[in-house]
Amino acid sequence: MKLLRQMLTNPRQTGAIANTSPKLSRLIADMANLDQKNCVVELGAGTGVFTREIVKRISAQCTFFSLEINPILAKETQNNCPSANIFCDSAENIQTYLSSYEKTSCDCIISGLPWGVFEFSLQKQLLHTIYQSLDNGGEFLTIALLPGLLFPPGKRFRSLLDQTFSSVTKSHIVWQNLPPGFIYHCKKEKGALNG
Ligand SMILES: C[S@@+](CC[C@H](N)C(=O)[O-])C[C@H]1O[C@@H](n2cnc3c(N)ncnc32)[C@H](O)[C@@H]1O
Repeated sequence: MKLLRQMLTNPRQTGAIANTSPKLSRLIADMANLDQKNCVVELGAGTGVFTREIVKRISAQCTFFSLEINPILAKETQNNCPSANIFCDSAENIQTYLSSYEKTSCDCIISGLPWGVFEFSLQKQLLHTIYQSLDNGGEFLTIALLPGLLFPPGKRFRSLLDQTFSSVTKSHIVWQNLPPGFIYHCKKEKGALNG
């Protein structure tokens, strides 16, 4: 309900009418092998359905924080996941928060960002920041919604992923999600030169 209200007020930032289903939320967390990660960053927490899965699976030594741009949703995620560090800020500022943990990069970024409603320039800028913020060999996982594949922003996003990462794979489709969705799992080359 919270997400639907935010979608009605700010559709180009929220990009979803309902929370991601438990099945798709578990899938993204399973694919990320979170128990083996040292530093995990979440982008676009919404109401915290991915956050809850992440917190359950990371090790006690893992650094984890989440960036959510909408203050109402950031507060909702914090209430739903009291032990997590949720910051109300844009994904563009990952580096500022990594620095506050004395890090320059992380080994996993999990995104609930609504790529299918973003302008091409924002897709490019955010993906560049995400790539720069990953360790060599780091992983980027993001939700994608099936209807988005039919429209130009979703198609442009897929080709940007292919241009940016050394490997991009797609999970199976989770039909029980509203609308049906899947996960893109992207890897940064082990010997990548940041540029
Ligand atoms: C599709 S919704 C949330 C998905 C979440 N997995 C869920 O089911 O609750 C996308 C979220 O991304 C947030 N968002 C959009 N642009 C953002 C940005 N530049 N930085 C951080 N969060 C952003 C929106 O406010 C929204 O909460």
